[in-house]
Amino acid sequence: MKKALAALTVAFSACLASGVSAQSLTVGFSQIGSESGWRAAETTVTKQEAEKRGIDLKFADAQQKQENQIKAIRGFIAQGVDAILVAPVVATGWDAVLKEAKEEEIPVILLDRQIESPEDLYLTAVTSDQVHEGKVAGEWLVKEIGDKDCKVVELQGTTGSSPAINRKKGFEEGIASNAKITIARSQTGDFTRTKGKEVMESFIKAEGGGKDICAVYAHNDDMAVGAIQAIKEAGLKPGTDIKIVSIDAVPDIFKAMADGEANATVELTPNMAGPAFDVLDAYLKDKKQPPKWIQTESKLFTAADDPMKVYEAKKGLGY
Ligand code: AHR
Repeated sequence: MKKALAALTVAFSACLASGVSAQSLTVGFSQIGSESGWRAAETTVTKQEAEKRGIDLKFADAQQKQENQIKAIRGFIAQGVDAILVAPVVATGWDAVLKEAKEEEIPVILLDRQIESPEDLYLTAVTSDQVHEGKVAGEWLVKEIGDKDCKVVELQGTTGSSPAINRKKGFEEGIASNAKITIARSQTGDFTRTKGKEVMESFIKAEGGGKDICAVYAHNDDMAVGAIQAIKEAGLKPGTDIKIVSIDAVPDIFKAMADGEANATVELTPNMAGPAFDVLDAYLKDKKQPPKWIQTESKLFTAADDPMKVYEAKKGLGY
C-alpha cells in the first residue's frame, strides 16, 4: 500500500511538473452530516472544488455519528485513497484511526473543527478561530446593550464539538468586561433549527414567558432561526425585545436581519476545501509541510450591512 502510494505520488508530481492536471488523485471526505445550512454549503463547495481540480472525491455522510466517520475513514484507507478530509463531529476519540491512516502514509486534513489528538497524526486543520468568533459575538453584545442588565440565553452547538467548546469560551471572554451581562441559561441545540426552537421554547417558559430574556447567543445561525420562530410564537419580537447574535452568516440570517428579526452574525466561510486542496497539492508534489493550522477569516455582519444585498451575494456561494 505504501509503495503504491509512493508510486502514485511520484506520478502525481510528474503530472504537475508537466502541467497535466492530476486526474488520478482520489480523496475521501468524511462529512458530519447536514445539520445546518452552513454544513450543506460546505459539502457543495467541497464537491465543486474537487471537480474544478479533477479530483475524484469519495463522499461519506456520517449522519452526526463519530462511529460512522471512523468506519468511513477505515474504508478510505482500505481503498488506498491519496488523502482524507474529515470534518470531525467531536474533538476526542480520533487517535486510533488517525494512526492507521498515518501507518499507510495517507495524509489527513481536518476541515472546520479541531480535535484533541497529537498534531503529528494529521497534516493540517483548516478552521476558523472559534474562540475569536465567540468573542466577537460577545463584544458586539456588550456594545449593543450599553449599561443595562442583560440576561442572555445560549444555544450551544453539538456537545463535545470544538465549535461548541470554543464559541462558549470566546463569548464568555467577550462579555467579561460587563458584569451586567450574564448567561442565565445554556443548553445544546445540536446546531439544528428544530432543536434550537425546542430549547428556546423551554428557555422562554423558564424565563417569565421570555420577558426576562434580553438576548440569544446561538453557536450557529440555524439555531438562531429556530429561536426566532419560538420567540415570535411566544408573542415577542426577535431582534427588538430579544436581541439575536449568532455565527455562520448563512443567507437565512440575512433575511431575518432584513426583517428586523436578527441583529448580528459572525461569518464562517464554507470554503474549507479550497485551502485544503492547495496545501495537499504542495505536500504531494514536494512534501511541503503546511502549518498545522490554516485559519479562515471571521467577519462580523450586523443589520447595518445591507442584509438583502449580502443575502443575494451569498446565494451563489454553495447555499
Ligand atoms: O463546525 C462548524 C459548525 O458546524 C457551523 O458553525 C455549524 O453550522 C455547523 O454545523
